[in-house]
Amino acid sequence: MKVAIVTGSTRGIGKQIAIDLAKDGYNVVINYNSSDEKALEVKKECDQYNESFIIKGDVSKMDEATNIVNEVMEKYGRIDLLVNNAGITKDNLILRMNEEDFQKVLNVNLIGTFNMCKNVSKIFLKQRSGSIVNIASVVGEIGNVGQCNYASSKAGVIALTKTLAKEFGQRGIRVNAIAPGYIDTDMTKVLSENIKEEVRKNIPLLRFGRPNDISNVVVFLASDKASYITGQVINVCGGMVM
Ligand SMILES: NC(=O)c1ccc[n+]([C@@H]2O[C@H](COP(=O)([O-])OP(=O)(O)OC[C@H]3O[C@@H](n4cnc5c(N)ncnc54)[C@H](OP(=O)(O)O)[C@@H]3O)[C@@H](O)[C@H]2O)c1
Repeated sequence: MKVAIVTGSTRGIGKQIAIDLAKDGYNVVINYNSSDEKALEVKKECDQYNESFIIKGDVSKMDEATNIVNEVMEKYGRIDLLVNNAGITKDNLILRMNEEDFQKVLNVNLIGTFNMCKNVSKIFLKQRSGSIVNIASVVGEIGNVGQCNYASSKAGVIALTKTLAKEFGQRGIRVNAIAPGYIDTDMTKVLSENIKEEVRKNIPLLRFGRPNDISNVVVFLASDKASYITGQVINVCGGMVM
């Protein structure tokens, strides 16, 4: 039995990751913060391939992150993979961005990833096995107008990934990140058609990504085929950043 936790897996990229991990033989723990009905839909899809389990919880709160990991341990007694995918945006130019919106995005994207990594690390160190895949973003590498909060949070996720890869390497625990470019999900639906067209022109493969462009790489990074890969950030962005 292999067990994976996918945070923020009721929609978009996380949903596809959950389904593809179930297909790949994982018992998948579906986590989310608010969309109860969507969680049930994802569970139905995952259950076609393997057993799945829903745990609601806000990863930005340490006690809720601890509870997610404790519940998984009570049910399955092991964790093989953590995918930190939960993320939010609250875009604005810095002059118009209030402290609260800066803090909120940092809390979910970076602190949430820290909270989950900290809780599973105890289990992974005891097991002497386990793998973490963090979903960052190319804007964490290159910055983006209107996203000082989001880009900072993702840069933090990249630094966290590399640090944990160094801390855990000798125990056989791998930690990697994927940096998606623009992927078709609810997060990018809010962009105007004009902006989308501008973005598309600057992507060498001339299209937005699809959630399965990301989930394919998660499945690979989690597998033994990636057993010599740790501390890496894999850009999955149609060539937008190279
Ligand atoms: N889409 C893109 O172009 C793109 C590009 C680069 C990176 N990414 C990253 O990829 C990840 C997924 O993005 P997406 O586009 O699939 O986003 P999405 O469609 O907006 O879905 C976000 C998911 O995160 C969950 N979530 C939000 N806050 C949470 C919290 N505090 N605790 C637990 N779960 C929480 C949401 O669940 P609820 O609805 O229940 O809150 C939802 O399932 C994010 O980390 C995002 O930053 C996306």
